[in-house]
Amino acid sequence: MVKVAILGASGGIGQPLSLLLKLSPYISKLALYDVRDPAGVAVDLSHINSVAEIESYHGDQLGDALRGARVVVIPAGVPRKPGMSRDDLFNINAGIVRTLCEGIARSCPNATVLVISNPVNSLVPVALETLRKNNVQNPENRVMGITTLDMVRAETFLGDYLNKARVSSVGSKQFDKRRMHKLVTVIGGHSGHTIVPVVLLKPLVYMMKPGEYDRFLNRVQFGGDEVVKAKQGQGSATYSMAFAAHRFVDVVLRSIQRMPTDDAGFTPAYVQLSQLPGGAEAQNKLGAGKAAAEYLSLPVVLRDGRIERIDSSVLDQLSVKEREMLKTALPELADNVRRGKRFICNPA
Ligand code: NAD
Ligand code: LMR
Repeated sequence: MVKVAILGASGGIGQPLSLLLKLSPYISKLALYDVRDPAGVAVDLSHINSVAEIESYHGDQLGDALRGARVVVIPAGVPRKPGMSRDDLFNINAGIVRTLCEGIARSCPNATVLVISNPVNSLVPVALETLRKNNVQNPENRVMGITTLDMVRAETFLGDYLNKARVSSVGSKQFDKRRMHKLVTVIGGHSGHTIVPVVLLKPLVYMMKPGEYDRFLNRVQFGGDEVVKAKQGQGSATYSMAFAAHRFVDVVLRSIQRMPTDDAGFTPAYVQLSQLPGGAEAQNKLGAGKAAAEYLSLPVVLRDGRIERIDSSVLDQLSVKEREMLKTALPELADNVRRGKRFICNPA
């Protein structure tokens, strides 16, 4: 059984994510931590008769929240308002993630660290470099940015399209949207054009009417903006993100419990490719210099909550269009990574 800590548990994502993780059969202790005291959320959740025991911490109790944690999930930080980019959040959120990772280095240096806070493309390097700077050994095999929301959106939007268009020639009239991860995946990064949806069953693309495929791609890449706009200044995606994070954390927990999962082999995460088994192979397939593809979201194979290897087979299946999109993504990703690393390694 496993202790999981949620840092930022009082927030828009933190609260529904805490509820979903409270229901997990794989968690024995769920520690809720926030600078805004999550005591009310904790007492409320503690009345649910599921396995996980709830603990609540705030302010200077970060060390107590983290002690013994095997998995740490970080949704702490500010969300976007209309007109902002994820990059606009960097200055505030990089400082928050650095402080939290300093605490992780002190209290649970071997924990798997899952970053939700934006901009993910830059904050995963911030998390990794903070751990390294604080003498944590080989953190690259257990620090991951959660990009599952892009997968969830791609599955939902493609499933909606297929059902509306009544595409029946691939075997079924009604697509089960919970099974869509075998038809589509998303790689790259987590912002606008760095998000690269990849349709795994290529005939689906050819069946789409002109313009339909481009609309699908655009909606996945800019789905976050759709929610930010609809929430009119009240933040960004929270419920769909909590669902997506729960889905990813469940895969991590199952890898610890050695339980099979339907998502295994189909689960991308944003990681530091260059340091991981299978990473160099992925970089070679990208045909870009090592520096240009240091971090990327690609399917990861997990074991014991850690990355055993990168599975780059999806890169063998790219269409010309998907390859072009990835080529467009790489320079932006490299800039994002540089910004994150500079924040920790060469602060001005
Ligand atoms: P929110 O403002 O509702 O909640 C954030 C919480 O973090 C607040 O409760 C706040 O008190 C807490 N916090 C701030 N500083 C902290 C610190 N130092 N330690 C602990 N807690 C701290 O925001 P939200 O809607 O939950 O979004 C959180 C982050 O997740 C944002 O950066 C957002 O952009 C990002 N996000 C990422 C994805 C993704 O796909 N990866 C999806 C949606 C949102
Ligand atoms: C999303 O994709 O919904 C999140 O990254 C939040 C945002 O700012 O769009």
